[in-house]
Amino acid sequence: MSKQQCLLVTGGAGFIGSCFVLQSRQRGLRVINLDKLTYAGNLENLASLSSDPDHIFVQGDIGNAELIQWLLGHYEPDAVVNFAAESHVDRSILDPEAFVRTNVLGTSTLLRVVKNWWSCLDDAKRASFRFLHISTDEVFGALQPGDPAFCETTPYSPNSPYSASKAASDHLVRAFHETYGLPVLITNCSNNYGPRQFPEKLISLMILNALEGKPLPVYGTGSNIRDWLHVEDHCAAIALVLEQGRTGESYNIGGHSERTNLEVVQTLCAILQEEVPCERRYADQIRFVTDRPGHDFRYAIDCRKLEQELGWKPVHSFASGLKETVRWYLAHREWVEHVRSGAYRDWMVRNYADRV
Ligand code: NAD
Ligand code: DAU
Repeated sequence: MSKQQCLLVTGGAGFIGSCFVLQSRQRGLRVINLDKLTYAGNLENLASLSSDPDHIFVQGDIGNAELIQWLLGHYEPDAVVNFAAESHVDRSILDPEAFVRTNVLGTSTLLRVVKNWWSCLDDAKRASFRFLHISTDEVFGALQPGDPAFCETTPYSPNSPYSASKAASDHLVRAFHETYGLPVLITNCSNNYGPRQFPEKLISLMILNALEGKPLPVYGTGSNIRDWLHVEDHCAAIALVLEQGRTGESYNIGGHSERTNLEVVQTLCAILQEEVPCERRYADQIRFVTDRPGHDFRYAIDCRKLEQELGWKPVHSFASGLKETVRWYLAHREWVEHVRSGAYRDWMVRNYADRV
């Protein structure tokens, strides 16, 4: 019988990482889950694995070299999948250094320790090992209407401290391949939505604010465009890239679902009107507020490489995925209550109080 595959997943208690951990366990992989449990990390996302002996949770930082070294030596993973990051653009505008610490320095430490361990493996293990780094379409900068979508060879041109820190980490990952031969892969994905997203991001925030009768703060005119992909489709793509992707390569992942922010918020309001009818119109809660500084106008992803080379196709349509997502938040009120701690309320004041 062949040995059970083992993954070291970082950031596996966050929105996307937890979805990937849940899917990996369904596929029978053993998962070592290293997460610092920042405000965005939540063990309730992994509640269904609480008595699963093949999900080993370790609270810790990707910048902790000794801990990473011990985990690698002890569990001998077949791959490292790096989701750990500070992920929210608005937070990066208010506190850029936290993004440099985790996204740049943390990734750099993780790479160095993994490379040192990997270089001592036997030939077969060294050849089959993978380091998969999860990145974003934001590293490519901003598009205007009519511009061709980002492809893997689009030059990097990040505009926010968040995207600049992610770009730096991508460059480090690529450099570890070129310099040391570490078998790396990078994925650059568009905006994710779905269950368990921390309610600071557009879709989860709007659902919860709408239900509570609070303002729905649309930045600027709401005409900025994002491409939306269901988190389960993103994680299925990551698994495919991990299994079949060519090392040293990057793969774009996208949903073919470009929408203006205003369209997204109006669609959410229409879904809520059906799911939770009430006398007030949810859309009347929309407020246009001060724009995000340096707000990228449009992102769009050309993911033909992933589709044609690896045969990936998303399962969720945006319409059905959004409806399911709204239903998930309605059915998980306890998760919502726990997530909205004092720290969350502080953030809402910090980010929104001065927007007129
Ligand atoms: P998230 O903020 O929900 O989760 C991040 C997780 O990383 C949290 O569990 C947090 O505790 C953990 N973490 C943070 N700093 C850490 C550190 N120093 N050491 C260990 N763990 C740490 O983010 P997400 O939306 O799930 O995004 C995951 C990854 O996917 C990020 O790298 C992000 O850049 C990328 N990404 C996100 C999207 C999106 O739409 N959310 C799209 C494309 C790519
Ligand atoms: O494109 C991938 C990226 O998508 C990921 O790399 C990031 O981790 C993730 O946070 C996301 O970044 P965005 O900045 O695009 O997502 P956010 O949900 O913060 O915002 C989506 C759009 O909605 C953006 O144009 C800003 C706007 N917005 C956002 C918030 C929070 C509003 O209009 N009002 C809001 O209150």
